Order: sequence, then structure tokens, then C-alpha cells
Amino acid sequence: MEEKIQEIKGRIALELADVKTSAELFQLKAKYVLGKAGIIPGLMKELGKAAKEDRPKLGMVINSLKEWATEYFAKKEIEINEAEKNYRYKKETIDITMPAKHLKQGTLHPVSLVKAELIDIFAGMGFRVLETREIEDDFHNFTALNTPKEHPARDKQDTFYINDDFMLRTHTSPGQIRSLTTIKPPFKVLIPGRVYRADDDATHSPMFHQMEGLVIDEKITLCDLQGMLDVLVKKMFSEEAKTRFRPSFFPFTEPSVEVDVSCFECGGKGCKLCKGTGWIEILGGGIVNRKVLENCGVDPDKYTGFAFGLGLDRIAMLKNGVNNIHVLYEGDLRALGQFKG
Ligand code: PHE
Repeated sequence: MEEKIQEIKGRIALELADVKTSAELFQLKAKYVLGKAGIIPGLMKELGKAAKEDRPKLGMVINSLKEWATEYFAKKEIEINEAEKNYRYKKETIDITMPAKHLKQGTLHPVSLVKAELIDIFAGMGFRVLETREIEDDFHNFTALNTPKEHPARDKQDTFYINDDFMLRTHTSPGQIRSLTTIKPPFKVLIPGRVYRADDDATHSPMFHQMEGLVIDEKITLCDLQGMLDVLVKKMFSEEAKTRFRPSFFPFTEPSVEVDVSCFECGGKGCKLCKGTGWIEILGGGIVNRKVLENCGVDPDKYTGFAFGLGLDRIAMLKNGVNNIHVLYEGDLRALGQFKG
């Protein structure tokens, strides 16, 4: 037995010398000391076969082997843990002197900037903001807006139809119908949103943005629209900005106007931006046609109102000197990052 024990000690020392990782160490520990399958616990089992008088002595010898081995493994374990820890420290060292990665700060989209600015100005005049549907039915997009089937004005708005009854809205004006049929007058609403037309060139995109305004009250006239727009252009463009009304036609307003602002680039003298005219068109509007009020169950003898529609993309382009609308939608951050509100 003595011999066997010496041999086991020798083997442990030899095998342990080669161990480099804690996983290997664990395997060796299992082989010699752990559980019932270990070599040393195995010796204990053999004890039963020895002669009765030899057993106490042998038991002591095996026990001391076990103590020796446990201690030997424990020492090695400390050594290996230390080595592994040092290796990790070295590998995971962070060089805090390295320059940090620069995260580019995002900016709001130019159309969002214009929208936010307009909402801010109109909210100051008591307007509330509504978002209405992008998929509209014929009634709201056309018929109730005094544009019945066969009306020639339908052709002007190259409509994307979804089926016979539904379409992508061609303007935010259906929001007028949704407001008139759900809100009790008097009210002032602002309806921003995406609109769609089958039109695509340098200044037109199949999807673009409008902002509708609608004021309904007693005794509203075109002067109210003009007064409000004067405040708007002064805040939006400059204190010197003026507006001018030109007669126009929309089925849902009567009379209808197109509104120009004095050119904010040249102050009205004439330049490239205003094409020498001194004026820039910014919106369409007018007095709400009494037929529209009737269609929505509002008494046109009691209430009148004005409505207007602004193109947000167009204003974003004018303000930033962009002459191709697609710059707004190509997602090139080098271009989009340069816009100001
Ligand atoms: N909806 C019209 C357009 O898209 C603009 C408009 C709105 C005109 C409200 C008058 C009143 O061209």
C-alpha cells in the first residue's frame, strides 16, 4: 500500500505540473479526489479487503494521502486563478487615452421644422391641431368639398385610387369636412399631414405635406384671413413681409384666392428666387363655400369661415434655397443636416 501511495503522489505531482487552466485542474481533481469514482476514494473502498488488524493504520495512511492531495490541488488552484485573472486584466485593458467615437447629433427633418414653426405660430392664435386620415373616401376628399363626380377639378389632382371608393387623400382639405361634421362651431383648427398625387418632377413628389387651416365663426370675412396671414408671414419670414391676394378658384371656397408673400430674399425688388416678380406664392385659400357648410349640416346663414392650405415642402425649399424637392426625401444626411427652421 505504501508503495501505491507513493506512486499516486508521484503521478499527481507529474500531471499537475502540466495543468494550465482551471478546467484542466477540475478534471484532474475529479480523477483523483472527487466523488466515488476518484482514485483516492477508491482506495478507501479497498480498505474493506485488507486484514482487520491492518485497517486502522491503512485508513490513516489513505486519509493523510487525501489531505495531502486536497492541499496540493488547493495550492495549484490559487496559482491558476491568479494567472487567469492576470491574463484577463491584460486582455481587457482599456486605453482611456484613445479618442472617443463621435456620435453625430441628429436634426429634425426640414419639413418637420417648418411644421413645428407653423404650429407654434398658429397655436398662439388659438388654433388646435388635428390629424385626420391619409386614406380617405370620395365623400370627404371630393364630394362634400363641392367637387362631385364629373367635376373637372377632380382631374387636376391626379389621384391614387385604392378602389372605387377609397383613395390616398390628394390634399388636407378633407380634414375640413371631418372637423365640420364633428366639432361644434365656432372653432379654429390646423390639420397638418401627408398628401399624395401622381406627380413627379423637380418640384413635385408623389407624397408631400400640407397644412390646412379652418376658422368657423359668425361674420368671418376675407379680411380676417388677410389679417391672420399678415401676422403669419411677419413671424415666419420677416417683419417687413407683406401679403398679396390674387383671385383663384377652388370648388370648396368662394371667393378663392392665391396668396403671395413679398420675396424674403430680395425684399420685393426682384431676384432669382421670385423669378423677378418680387412675390412668392405660398398658399391657396378663401371663404368656405356655403355648399360645403350645407353638406356638413352647418347653417351657412349663421356661420361663415375661411380655409387655407399651405405646402410645407415648398416652404421648406424656399426657406433653404433648395430647388429640387427630392433632396428632402433622399435621406442624405449631408444635405438634411444643413437645414434651418
Ligand atoms: N386644397 C387646396 C389644394 O390642395 C388648397 C386649399 C385649401 C385651397 C383650403 C383653399 C382652401 O390645392
